[in-house]
Amino acid sequence: MYSLISFILLTISTARAFTQGECIKHDFALIRLASQLSPGAAISCRHSLLQEYNANRYWGEQYSKNATVVVFPLTADDVSHTVQAASSSRLGWDLAFVGGGHGQTNASSTSGFLIDLSWMNSTKVLHDVRLGDVRIPNAISYQGGATWKQVTDVTSNTGLAAVGARVGDVGVGGFSTGGGIGFLAGAYGYAIDRIRAFEVVLLSGKIVVATKTNKYSDLFWALQGGGGQFGIVTTFYQEAVPEPTSSEFGIWIIARDSWEQARQNTVHFFHSNNDPFSLMYYSLGYYPQHLLTGNLTTTMVIVGIRFADPRGQSASTVDAYGDRPRQPAEQMTFNATFNGLLQGLDIEQASIYNVPYGVATELSTPFFPYGYRRGFWGPQTSKVSASYLAATSDGMEAYINQSLARGEVPTSAVWVLQYMYPNQNGHGPASDSDTAWPHAQTAHQTLFSPAWRSAVDDGFVIQHNDALNKITHDHQASVGPFIADYPNYISPKADGYRVWGGNVERLTAIKAKYDPECRIHQGRVFASEACIANGWANIYPPKS
Ligand SMILES: Cc1cc2nc3c(=O)[nH]c(=O)nc-3n(C[C@H](O)[C@H](O)[C@H](O)COP(=O)(O)OP(=O)(O)OC[C@H]3O[C@@H](n4cnc5c(N)ncnc54)[C@H](O)[C@@H]3O)c2cc1C
Ligand SMILES: *[C@@H]1O[C@H](CO)[C@@H](O)[C@H](O)[C@H]1NC(C)=O
Ligand SMILES: *[C@@H]1O[C@H](CO)[C@@H](O)[C@H](O)[C@H]1NC(C)=O
Ligand SMILES: *[C@@H]1O[C@H](CO)[C@@H](O)[C@H](O)[C@H]1NC(C)=O
Ligand SMILES: *[C@@H]1O[C@H](CO)[C@@H](O)[C@H](O)[C@H]1NC(C)=O
Ligand SMILES: *[C@@H]1O[C@H](CO)[C@@H](O)[C@H](O)[C@H]1NC(C)=O
Ligand SMILES: *[C@@H]1O[C@H](CO)[C@@H](O)[C@H](O)[C@H]1NC(C)=O
Repeated sequence: MYSLISFILLTISTARAFTQGECIKHDFALIRLASQLSPGAAISCRHSLLQEYNANRYWGEQYSKNATVVVFPLTADDVSHTVQAASSSRLGWDLAFVGGGHGQTNASSTSGFLIDLSWMNSTKVLHDVRLGDVRIPNAISYQGGATWKQVTDVTSNTGLAAVGARVGDVGVGGFSTGGGIGFLAGAYGYAIDRIRAFEVVLLSGKIVVATKTNKYSDLFWALQGGGGQFGIVTTFYQEAVPEPTSSEFGIWIIARDSWEQARQNTVHFFHSNNDPFSLMYYSLGYYPQHLLTGNLTTTMVIVGIRFADPRGQSASTVDAYGDRPRQPAEQMTFNATFNGLLQGLDIEQASIYNVPYGVATELSTPFFPYGYRRGFWGPQTSKVSASYLAATSDGMEAYINQSLARGEVPTSAVWVLQYMYPNQNGHGPASDSDTAWPHAQTAHQTLFSPAWRSAVDDGFVIQHNDALNKITHDHQASVGPFIADYPNYISPKADGYRVWGGNVERLTAIKAKYDPECRIHQGRVFASEACIANGWANIYPPKS
């Protein structure tokens, strides 16, 4: 009788998670994991439906590998059981985990053991949160596998919002551990400057809350821009910002005979804008002539965006540059803000949108389609000039022309310069050592996002990226201080100093402490002793 009951219990408990495929039967760690996961979680073997679903989630074609086994956890406890199972599974030496699948370092896919966080996608708007030693008056908490569209769908019309990506498909996980530049970053700071607590599953399986001031403050610091190689973040707690009451977008296609004037106007905007809620993008890309219709061609698109400051305070904060006109008492209108930017330009097409903040990201999503080999790379600069913009634009056009000559069709390939408000309106860190990613000095982001089909052209694309990076790095060296590259736009060959400046040594020590066996080692890996010993390290401290 007793053995019958225990047999039934065992049968029930081994059938909790949903499993697909044969790989589980041959691996005791996976059999046990299936009994530990919560109901509804899943384990899927290569060639099964959920594994194939996973392989199709990656934005850049070259970043997707077929995992031998994919686990879909639902809770932090599930993630904890999974990392422990991976340490005893024969597949676990080749571990990776994926959030939104938009990362550009090959870190989030593996042919071995993959943890797919996409079923941990819930978001909450919380008030008076007490977590560890922090208190957050208004927080947006989002689970580690959500996308930004899923977050904004929840925060929309609540009066509160998070600083999130400008494209809805991007995952919160890579974004929030690698910097986090959103539309509202100029007004309220980057995501890493607004996160007050991370719930993290360590490689030991222990679930901890890291804050700036508790016993995991070193882990907290590393997650502020050091990327996803210290543990798996299961929930982010970001201090909320007031939701803008309107979002006005202008998308202008500029005739070629006005390109030089457009560059001068852009530089003027960068030097004179005094509204933290207004920003712009200068871009050159390969798009249909009228963005939606017409033949593909090299197109200059200028985008201006103004969010209505819900507190009506955009005028009251910092006096950013000495030479900047004082801020007016009231936020300027959209037309007044972008009048100078459009002055004297031959505009081929103008599209103006006024949308709720909750759907603002959907305006940029179509510009970044799936289905190509892709890059998403670029350094930053603190000061722009028209000649700098002419040089990078020529570099982009050369890339387009040569791609076409090689038989590629670089549809949606783009080079963008993104404006950032000085000192993020008072929300930037005081020093470069305050966060893993040095960003005390305000900088504007450049982005080279090529698109191509053939693996044969991988090297050609990377050469163009190197050439574009060199223009920005040389330009920055001639106009101002060292500016670290943006971690979420890390270039294929960038060394540690380029992205993390003087913080690489400390990051390496924290990597050794929290991942002593270097089990997280896909993509870019800090050179701890264990990572070096196994041949995985590729981010070294600068030679002294
Ligand atoms: C089309 C497009 C638009 C973008 N727009 C923006 C933008 O507006 N602003 C901006 O700042 N960046 C932007 N990015 C860059 C983006 O932030 C990074 O590519 C980021 O790494 C993507 O995160 P992900 O979770 O989607 O990627 P993934 O490929 O899933 O993960 C990237 C890295 O983060 C790790 N990771 C994922 N989830 C977690 C987690 N929960 N805990 C710990 N580590 C985790 C992964 O293991 C991997 O190392 C964009 C990228 C693309 C391709
Ligand atoms: C992954 O598997 C699919 C289906 O079997 C296959 O078409 C694809 O080429 C594989 N991808 C890689 C990178 O091996
Ligand atoms: C990513 O991995 C694939 C498959 O292993 C490889 O072909 C490709 O070169 C890698 N890409 C990068 C950017 O490392
Ligand atoms: C979000 O998570 C739920 C389970 O928690 C899952 O059913 C759903 O498919 C997830 N959404 C996506 C887009 O993966
Ligand atoms: C697109 O190009 C073709 C061939 O050059 C031309 O005949 C056609 O008129 C072009 N279409 C538009 C909308 O410009
Ligand atoms: C803003 O400018 C556009 C185009 O010049 C014009 O059509 C529109 O009426 C202006 N809006 C306001 C509120 O002035
Ligand atoms: C690219 O090709 C176009 C069209 O032929 C030409 O006008 C332009 O000068 C070329 N630009 C570069 C940088 O090669």
